[in-house]
Amino acid sequence: MSSIALYIHFPFCLSICPYCDFDRQATGFDRIDVYLSMLERELLQYAGAGETVHSIFFGGGTPSLMRPEQVAQVLASARRTFDVLPDAEITLECNPGDADLEKLKAFKSVGATRLSFGVQSLDDHYLKLLGRRHSSDEARQAASWARQAGLPFNLDFMFGLPDQSLAHWEQTLAEAVKLEPDHLSCYLLTLDERVPMGRDVARGRLVLPVDDDLAEMYTATCQDLAAAGYEQYEISNWARPGQASRHNLTYWRDGQWIGVGAGAASSYAGRRWKNTPVLERYIESVKAAAATAACVEDERPDRQTQMVDYLTLGLRLREGVSLGDFADRFGVDPLVLLGETGEWLVSQGFLELQLQLQLQLQLESDGTRLRIAEQHQMITNEILVRLEAPIADYVRRETSASQIAAR
Ligand SMILES: C[S@@+](CC[C@H](N)C(=O)[O-])C[C@H]1O[C@@H](n2cnc3c(N)ncnc32)[C@H](O)[C@@H]1O
Ligand code: SF4
Repeated sequence: MSSIALYIHFPFCLSICPYCDFDRQATGFDRIDVYLSMLERELLQYAGAGETVHSIFFGGGTPSLMRPEQVAQVLASARRTFDVLPDAEITLECNPGDADLEKLKAFKSVGATRLSFGVQSLDDHYLKLLGRRHSSDEARQAASWARQAGLPFNLDFMFGLPDQSLAHWEQTLAEAVKLEPDHLSCYLLTLDERVPMGRDVARGRLVLPVDDDLAEMYTATCQDLAAAGYEQYEISNWARPGQASRHNLTYWRDGQWIGVGAGAASSYAGRRWKNTPVLERYIESVKAAAATAACVEDERPDRQTQMVDYLTLGLRLREGVSLGDFADRFGVDPLVLLGETGEWLVSQGFLELQLQLQLQLQLESDGTRLRIAEQHQMITNEILVRLEAPIADYVRRETSASQIAAR
């Protein structure tokens, strides 16, 4: 049986960044102990499921605010619940400035194998604009401490910041590479209109770079990081060879994962759900209802949704999707499924077919793979949206054929 990933959500932050719309809060710090004990209770309900875990990710919020003993205790509960592989990847998200060398060493000693720092920028002007609590020097210090602590680390950056130029972003990338991260995530700043920075953009108080400039920044990211020895394995993720995140690959390869904590999402045993992000509701529901958290989303995706999701997740990866794996899972060749739309996307060079013979980036299978052409990654969403109609048509025809056969 294949293994699963485990996500642990720690929603507390010391302050709220004006661009962020994740499930997080800068209140309720006196509830951390009770929150963690409920989270462990939620986790322990899976004891007996007989699952093996290959990765654990403490995400947030700001998990680096946890004391190492608290991380150790959650990990002990995870080990009591699941068969956690001895070489499991165990990542802890950290905010630079919230953890010193001693704390990072302590995280390692209780089981963390990897850190992920939210750096966002190495320019103090932008760090201030982004409401970050750390300076660029503190971010550099954090990277150096991670190295001293002997933990591989990722650095998160955002580009397309207000008034940011291509030259400025490339300078950030050059400085980031000097910190010798094992992994880099570079996200395009995306602002919901409900967050303060989104409102400032809507009112014209902040101006974001135009699409052509963003495209240039993205292309430069691909080129500069490749030149520095990083392999791109997903639209926003680059790694030194062998350092791709096993946890994140689970999501994009449409594997199974269980998420625990307020706001955590799960995809397990054919069901997808998301826990309530409201802290007190989460705590009360786990206390009351046989350790089950109240959900804000809960569905069993139908065949059409499963096929769309498998392709839209897998095509975000540079490895793309194996035609053979897709056919084994859904009983249809993706090229047949996508019909004329698929043929057109391939003929126009948006999608490409590749014979993959090497086991690069921990690929699980060889054979022909379908992927988005490198130069069209910027318009991945526009390409993916075109796959939905042919899949819906195929499933409709399949359903009518089976109804006719049943008559
Ligand atoms: C789940 S967040 C939490 C990370 C951590 N709390 C921190 O801020 O340092 C992970 C990453 O998502 C990215 N991110 C957050 N909000 C974003 C936004 N509005 N647009 C693009 N990327 C964003 C940031 O790079 C952030 O480090
Ligand atoms: S970006 Fe990170 S630190 Fe800032 S509010 Fe969001 S989760 Fe918290």
